[in-house]
Amino acid sequence: MTTAPSGLVPKSDVELFSTATLMDPYPHYAALRGLGPAVYLTRYDLYGLFRYEHVRPALVDWERFSSAEGVAMNPRTNELMDGSILGMDPPRHKAVRKVFDEALRPKYVRQVAGDLAHLAGKLVDDLVRRGQFDGVRDFARKLPVDIVLDLIGFPRDDQREEILDWALGAFNFMGPAGDFQASSLPDVQDLMQYLTTKATPGKLLPGSFGQIVWAAVERGEITESEALMTMSAYACAGVDTTIAGISSTLWLLARNPDQWSDVRRDPEAVPGAFLEGLRMEAPVQSFARVTTCDVELDDVTIPAGARVVLSYGSANRDERHYPAPDCFRVRRNPSDTVAFGLGVHNCPGRALATMEAHALFRALAERVERLELAGEPTRSPNSITRGLDTLPVRVA
Ligand code: HEM
Repeated sequence: MTTAPSGLVPKSDVELFSTATLMDPYPHYAALRGLGPAVYLTRYDLYGLFRYEHVRPALVDWERFSSAEGVAMNPRTNELMDGSILGMDPPRHKAVRKVFDEALRPKYVRQVAGDLAHLAGKLVDDLVRRGQFDGVRDFARKLPVDIVLDLIGFPRDDQREEILDWALGAFNFMGPAGDFQASSLPDVQDLMQYLTTKATPGKLLPGSFGQIVWAAVERGEITESEALMTMSAYACAGVDTTIAGISSTLWLLARNPDQWSDVRRDPEAVPGAFLEGLRMEAPVQSFARVTTCDVELDDVTIPAGARVVLSYGSANRDERHYPAPDCFRVRRNPSDTVAFGLGVHNCPGRALATMEAHALFRALAERVERLELAGEPTRSPNSITRGLDTLPVRVA
């Protein structure tokens, strides 16, 4: 339970997790950044860090901003996620992380680079022939679903696509107690049911990340329940986040024709464009930590035992750090974005996600001169992630 603040802590009664705010959080983030280095969110009994200069150091300071009590914003989810890599501090975290790093190390992931480039080329050829398509379903989802679910090793059956919806529910389940959180319980139950029956050594595809996880159980390096939570982390963290990052970047490129021309003229700008897309529209908007002692930030003290929201989404738009933060500029190349986290929990899937995105946008830059919106995109509110549901796009 978080301790209500005493003294100088700025407070806000903003409904940060309401539908209206989740659909467009940026003006609220700006207001919260303006209030001070830390803000007490009265409606949720949570503290929040919203400025880049405070989010970044908190991410690397696991001794004072601990993940061990879970990174969700409600106690029930944190209990259910016991054994998840996200909710651990070193030294336990190190043993489980080794399993992820082994599977996801860039050297291994680069082996699929050729497949990604080939598939991306074929995909974009087909989309160019069609002229108009859905940027989420037809463009952003393809590689994560076809390649990443294979790498993770989930059996190739008709339940595969459902993983994506369950994963979005699982993210909602991590938000503060309330309607979104409560209504997503069935998704979490379905996901766990799927994992216990399908993510088992006998059913996972041979040579997959999943098999690496179970081999670590065999060697006694992690427990069975940690293995199950590891498979859940793959299912949740590995696919929807990448789809969100790719579709948001496509949306920003389609809305900014001068920026698309830049990428088109110089495909070397693709990596910078994807980073800028992730900066503008962080697929993971926030996770929480718990303070292990009183933490002083300038003139504000966060008490020990407080649950603190670290807002990647706001830090990435902080005008104190990024000039004109709401402008999409492919040449900004924000390699210091916190979109993939930092410190011990930094995203182990970064190389894989980046490779998928680069393959897709390179294929697009080689083949498409004009890229434009063919209608308004749609999105659903989610307490943790930010992505699009549909994105009508026209290309020539
Ligand atoms: C654009 C795509 C992605 C984004 C924006 C993203 C974002 C993040 C962020 C912000 C964290 C930090 C969590 C924290 O601070 O507590 C994280 C951790 C993690 N990500 Fe990613 N991620 C992406 C893709 C992937 C992929 C493709 C995979 C796996 C296939 C993956 C697996 C994980 C795992 C397992 C963790 C937990 C690591 C730990 O706690 O040590 N992510 N991700």
